[in-house]
Amino acid sequence: MSVHSDIRKVTTHVLQEMKRKNQKIAMLTAYDYSNAKIIDDTGIDIILVGDSASNVMAGYDSTLPITLDNMIYHAASVVRGVKRALVVVDLPFGTYQSNSKLALSSAIKIMKKTGAGAIKIEGGLEVKDSIKRILTAGIPVMGHLGLTPQSIHKFGTYVVRAQEEEEAAKLIADAHLLEDLGCFAIVLEKVPATLATQVAQEVKIPIIGIGAGNVDGQVLVLHDMLGITQEFSPRFLRRYANLDDIITKAVVQYIDDVKSEDFPNESEQY
Ligand code: KIV
Repeated sequence: MSVHSDIRKVTTHVLQEMKRKNQKIAMLTAYDYSNAKIIDDTGIDIILVGDSASNVMAGYDSTLPITLDNMIYHAASVVRGVKRALVVVDLPFGTYQSNSKLALSSAIKIMKKTGAGAIKIEGGLEVKDSIKRILTAGIPVMGHLGLTPQSIHKFGTYVVRAQEEEEAAKLIADAHLLEDLGCFAIVLEKVPATLATQVAQEVKIPIIGIGAGNVDGQVLVLHDMLGITQEFSPRFLRRYANLDDIITKAVVQYIDDVKSEDFPNESEQY
């Protein structure tokens, strides 16, 4: 099943055009070949190999522990399953903040070893030099502002960001800076919808929201929207399936069938 089958390959240029034509952009995360293949076939526009892999794939309680090599493994697996969507890969914590040379080297490693189409970086002014240097190497950069999970220890909480005037003003300034530097899109996470709308109206590049109201596009973590994760239930999350329940029922049935010798039956053996 495919929507938007008229677009053969989503590029950063296609995304700019979608914003210009007021067509909404749909983005989801994926971390492995099989899921990436399924969601690419649906006609999703962007697949993000998010550092949320640290939580949903590796079981850590934050995105900080995941390494560049871990991200490269996930991203290369995803790229092998994708024909149409733009694949964007998160630069993980510690691989771009300290200096722009390290940032460029991390971004090049990802692009060379995975075949992805772009990278994503959290932050604004603080990481300006890193973004600039990566862009000069011809690597497309997606920004990420608002609740940036790699800074969770600075925030101390997962509450909505930029509710106060000072933080909102910095966020607006950062969004303009990212656009001026040449980022092709920005993820805005968990900020008031009015602020996100203002940013989306002020910049020409697409604003992809997660808990940021109705902007140019939306992103969700695949495991959250499919109901594989159950412990995470923020207000912005819409669950489209309850795979936890489906998987549990299937596995319980399998155990029953094995124990009762119902499986394998005559036609399931050689
Ligand atoms: O890592 C991730 O999954 C993300 C999305 C939540 C935007 O950055």
